[in-house]
Amino acid sequence: MADNKIYRASTTAPVNIAVIKYWGKRDPKLNLPTNSSLSVTLSQSDLRTHTTASCSPKYTCDSLLLNGSPQDVSGARTQACFRELRALRKKLEAENFSLPPLSTYPLKIVSENNFPTAAGLASSAAGFAALVRAIANLYELPSTPTELSKIARQGSGSACRSLFGGYVGWDKGTAVDGSDSVAFEVAPASHWPNMRAVILVVSAAKKGVSSTTGMQTTVATSSLFPARANETVPKRMKEMENAIKNKDFETFGKVTMRDSNSFHATCLDTEPPIFYLNDVSRAAIKIVEGINCAAGKTIAAYTFDAGPNAVIYYLEEHENEVAGLFKAMMGEKEGWEGARGKAVQANHEAMSDV
Ligand code: DP6
Repeated sequence: MADNKIYRASTTAPVNIAVIKYWGKRDPKLNLPTNSSLSVTLSQSDLRTHTTASCSPKYTCDSLLLNGSPQDVSGARTQACFRELRALRKKLEAENFSLPPLSTYPLKIVSENNFPTAAGLASSAAGFAALVRAIANLYELPSTPTELSKIARQGSGSACRSLFGGYVGWDKGTAVDGSDSVAFEVAPASHWPNMRAVILVVSAAKKGVSSTTGMQTTVATSSLFPARANETVPKRMKEMENAIKNKDFETFGKVTMRDSNSFHATCLDTEPPIFYLNDVSRAAIKIVEGINCAAGKTIAAYTFDAGPNAVIYYLEEHENEVAGLFKAMMGEKEGWEGARGKAVQANHEAMSDV
């Protein structure tokens, strides 16, 4: 009898925000970076993508629905993820003839973010991490998060870090085939559980220059870039790993802010220049400087991705001085909405699979 079944698996993946930024590709096809990077994974309950992957001989073609809207699956990145995961499933099927041939069936992916895409947050990291893990679960692959990170990296570089919870590194690797360019756990979330983040949504608009395009132009034109990739970041990776291991917020915060500024300096040094920060972003930097000055030490640390929204890290014991201040400034409205933007409070806790 013909197999008319629908096979299905679901998972979630969290958003991660880098404290040592990935910016630059040495191989755009395999998405191999010019430098290693490090991020903090935000809590699943706050910001995550939920994805269901299904496959069936009844389906006519591969499809992807994100927040209810059909997406193009013909792009090289999505195709690379589908291809690699199907190849792993095919291997399993060749070893065990009793397995249904799921690798030959069209895939249907349904993804939902629990944060508005319009919040201006990079959703591609959680999105590709959830897509890869949902299909890996559907195919019952015995792959480890490290192995899956190699596949998710080809969807979007930062996605490889969302396969882990807690404090996560992405080793740039040296192999030309990308086999050692993988994510790794620096420390689980439980190691430093009082880490908190406030996201200041300055603009919900889509980025002016996409990360992919922006970083390619920076690599090609910025004279500051080689020093950042070859000297500054390798040194900071070590400092950051030690700061996390020692739960040293002072160093964690200082390195986070310096790395964000170094990344945005290379953007400004790009030809034509890329401006991701705006006046409100710069006001947020000043406020954090003021908080740290009043405290006499670094208790808050800002970082900005390829857009004007600030993510501010702090420890729970400084909730009032940091989040409380932003909350008061935003006007205490529901969701902390104010005239100049809105703030979202994100906890940081262990990642759990559904
Ligand atoms: C500034 O991972 O979005 O957020 O690999 O081209 O998809 P692609 O880029 P992407 O770039 C993220 C850049 C960043 C820094 C970071 O997350 O490390």
